[in-house]
Amino acid sequence: MNTKIISIEEGNASKEALKEAGEIIKNGGLVAFPTETVYGLGGNALDETASEKIYRAKGRPSDNPLIVHICRIEDIFPIVEEVPETAKKLADAFWPGPLTMILKKSEKVPDTTTGGLDTVAVRMPGHKTALAFIAAAGGYVAAPSANISGKPSPTLAKYVAEDMGGRIEMIIDGGEIAIGIESTIVDLTEEIPVILRPGYITREMLEGVLGKVDVDRAILEAGSKQAPKAPGMKYKHYAPQGDLTIISGSQEKVVAEINKKCEEMKKRGEKAGVIGTDSTAARYRADSVKSAGNRGEEAAIARALYRILREFDDEGVTVIYSEAFEDEKGSGGIGQAIMNRLLKAAGYHIEQV
Ligand code: TXA
Ligand code: MG
Repeated sequence: MNTKIISIEEGNASKEALKEAGEIIKNGGLVAFPTETVYGLGGNALDETASEKIYRAKGRPSDNPLIVHICRIEDIFPIVEEVPETAKKLADAFWPGPLTMILKKSEKVPDTTTGGLDTVAVRMPGHKTALAFIAAAGGYVAAPSANISGKPSPTLAKYVAEDMGGRIEMIIDGGEIAIGIESTIVDLTEEIPVILRPGYITREMLEGVLGKVDVDRAILEAGSKQAPKAPGMKYKHYAPQGDLTIISGSQEKVVAEINKKCEEMKKRGEKAGVIGTDSTAARYRADSVKSAGNRGEEAAIARALYRILREFDDEGVTVIYSEAFEDEKGSGGIGQAIMNRLLKAAGYHIEQV
C-alpha cells in the first residue's frame, strides 16, 4: 500500500484535504493524525473491520481496547449507556483536551473496538486538525497511538511514517506534538473515579472538579503483580531498542554511577546513551547524551521523552541510562506520568544509588 503524507498546519486545514482524509475513514481505511498528546492511528470506531485493521497495522493484541475520539461533546450520548454527572463535569472542565473517560458502552460500539469489554474509552482531543478530521470522518474515530505496538508513541510524523509507512492509507503531518505523552485515562464506572493511566491532566486537577479520585494501584507500585485495569497498561511499552535502565538517587551519585556504567559498556563494545537534564548533561561521558530539559519544567520533559527514545533508536544506541524524574508533589503532578512511561519503557528496571 502506498501511504500518502500530507502536511497540515494546525488550524489551516483545507476542505479538500479534510474531505480526502475523511473519505478514507468512511471507506474503512486508516489515517494517522496529530492530536495534542501523540499521533493517533485512526479508523472508523463504529466499523468492526476498521478496528481489526488497526490492530493488524500496529501488531497489537486485540484484547487491548481502543479510545473513541469525538469532535463535539454531545456526540458522547449515542455511544454510552448513560452520561454520569461526573462525566459532564469533566467534559466541561477539560474537553477538548488530554483526558479520556471510561464509561459503560452502548450497543452502537462494536466489541472489536473495546476489546470485548462492556465499557468504552472516549476522548475529545484538543487539537484543531484532529477535531476537523474527526468531523470529516463521520464523528467517531478509534485511535491508538500511531506506533508499532511496544515502541514509543510518535510525537513527530517521521516516526509515524517509519512505523506505519506502507500499512495505512494516509498520514497527516501536523509537526511536533505539544504534550508528548498520552491522555490521562479516568474510569467513571466505579463509585469513586479511578485514574488508570496518569497524564497531563493530573489527579489534583481531577479532584478539583470531582472530589476524591483514586489511582489504579498497578500504576502506583512499579512492577506490581496486580493486573492494571486499562488492559494496555500491562504490556511492556514505549520501549526503545536499547536496553534502558533508570538510575535513581542524589545527583552526584547518579552522575558517577551512570558514567561508570557507560565506561564498562564501552569496553564491551556497546553504544551507550544517557538521558540527563540541562544541569547534568555536560557531565556525562557516553556515545550519545541527551537532555530531557530543565528539571523544573515537567511539561518540557514530557514533550521530549519519546522523541529522545526514538532518536537513540535512529543512532543505534544499544544501552541507555536515564536519570529518574520523581514526582516531587506526591502522586499528583505530571512527574508521575513521566515516571510511569519511563518505567514501562525500562521494563521497570530501576537501580537506586
Ligand atoms: O493520548 C491518547 O490517549 C492517544 C491519542 C492518539 O489520543 N491514544 C492512546 O491510545 O494512547 P492507546 O490505544 O495507545 O492507549 C489506550 C489505552 C490502553 O492502555 C487501553 O488498554 C486503554 O486505553 N483502554 C481503552 N479502552 C479501555 C476501556 N474500556 N477500559 C479500560 N482501559 C481502556
Ligand atoms: Mg499506545
